[in-house]
Amino acid sequence: MTPFGIRRKLRKLAGRGGPPEVERFPLTIVLPDGTEQQVVAEKHYTLVMASQSLPKPLATGCPDGTCGSCRVEVLDPSGLSPIKDKEREVIAQWIPDATPNTRLACHARVLGPGAKVRAFNLFDLDAITGPKPGA
Ligand code: FES
Repeated sequence: MTPFGIRRKLRKLAGRGGPPEVERFPLTIVLPDGTEQQVVAEKHYTLVMASQSLPKPLATGCPDGTCGSCRVEVLDPSGLSPIKDKEREVIAQWIPDATPNTRLACHARVLGPGAKVRAFNLFDLDAITGPKPGA
């Protein structure tokens, strides 16, 4: 056994050999119809990533955070990353009716529990592909 194998085995015996714990935090997404959905997101997930467990996740329109279509209104900023200059620029360019609570879901990251945001655009596969046969 190599010295690394011995260390790994000793760490495992001491209870420190497993994969690192992933922190997860709850947040609330208010859908356009007013219903509230609770989701759990890993630390550093964007709001877009956090919404992937919803039947209709937050819609996105670009791969690089420059279109503004993922806008949300922050109702409770608890646990969200602070806004950065790049996000401010995109909001100023594409969202003329933005308020100080407007954020981009592909920029804002979950760093702790308690965030609450209102969604405006959801990804609706049925609207794109049409109703399922027999539905
Ligand atoms: S998806 Fe384009 S800015 Fe967020």
